[in-house]
Amino acid sequence: MEELLRTWDGENVLIRHDAETGAWIFLAVHDRTLGMALGGCRLNIYSSPEDGLRDALRLSRIMTFKWAASGLPFGGGKGVLAVPGLLTPAARERLLLRFADMVDSLGGRYGTGADLGTTARDMNVIGRRTRWVFGRTPDEGGSGDPGPWTALGVLSGIRAACAHVFGAAELTGRTVLIQGLGNVGGPLAQLLATAGAELLVSDAIPTRAAEIAAATGAHVVAPEHVYQTECDVFAPCAIGGILNARSIPRFRCRIVAGSANNQLEHDADALGLHRAAVLYVPDFVINAGGAIAHAGLELLGWDRPQVEARVRGLEPAVMEMLRSAAERAEPPQHEAMRRAERVIASAKEQVAV
Ligand code: PHE
Repeated sequence: MEELLRTWDGENVLIRHDAETGAWIFLAVHDRTLGMALGGCRLNIYSSPEDGLRDALRLSRIMTFKWAASGLPFGGGKGVLAVPGLLTPAARERLLLRFADMVDSLGGRYGTGADLGTTARDMNVIGRRTRWVFGRTPDEGGSGDPGPWTALGVLSGIRAACAHVFGAAELTGRTVLIQGLGNVGGPLAQLLATAGAELLVSDAIPTRAAEIAAATGAHVVAPEHVYQTECDVFAPCAIGGILNARSIPRFRCRIVAGSANNQLEHDADALGLHRAAVLYVPDFVINAGGAIAHAGLELLGWDRPQVEARVRGLEPAVMEMLRSAAERAEPPQHEAMRRAERVIASAKEQVAV
């Protein structure tokens, strides 16, 4: 853990061991140059506390880039509740309340929301102890589940990537494989089916894959066959780290464009994909829909049509970004990182003046 913290470039991390549940709580604030840190709260089982901390550090960092890329005035932060196993509903609720107290202690330097393993109802619980929570259910005054907005953004990014690679944004007849059918993958499957795509779906929970397949007419792919399955677009919507030296040589897709955070195991894997002629749309660019919706609806005073226009605006934005990356013969990841870093650096300069 010392090594992880020493090599991290963020602001600070609040760490707590939760005696009742045995969970480790990590609340990482990465960068507030552009504004308050805003990012979801992940609840997950990790094989060690270090893995939970590593996830919090990397996730808070990617939130910084997500906000910078989306042009909104917020910074990067993330909460991780690294639980040792399944909790009873009552114990889980008490854990969320203690996390809420930690969020509140930062007095608005960090705001939380839903992520992998948490829901809008969990945000209602957190909202009992702090106002710095986004995405409560609409009846409690929140903007609800960010998943459908993230899915709409991913759809827009997939269209942009198809326009770039195949010369047409239309998805009729394009084969798209979704890995992970949770809060984002589920609604994305519906959107893609409506758009006429040939849909392949995969999930670690076989019944969930079967249900979505039945509802959308998709074919189910077994989790162990995902990476070598031929498709036009591979959309990772589950966990991070799946783009790596082991998976990339097996790929038989033209495009990788999905919602999972931190899809690249290492920075160098962006180059690996580029050399394998696989177009990778940077995760933090394409998965900003949920973040945009929370910020727009709860902080910036936008209505739903304004949010929708902004999220659909990812299509021309991604197209333009892919074009300039292609002109430089570079992986889009490099172009997107450079742009985000420039946004933050110029904001820092303004502060210095
Ligand atoms: N967890 C989602 C993300 O990683 C949505 C979210 C964004 C939640 C911002 C809270 C705050 O983008």
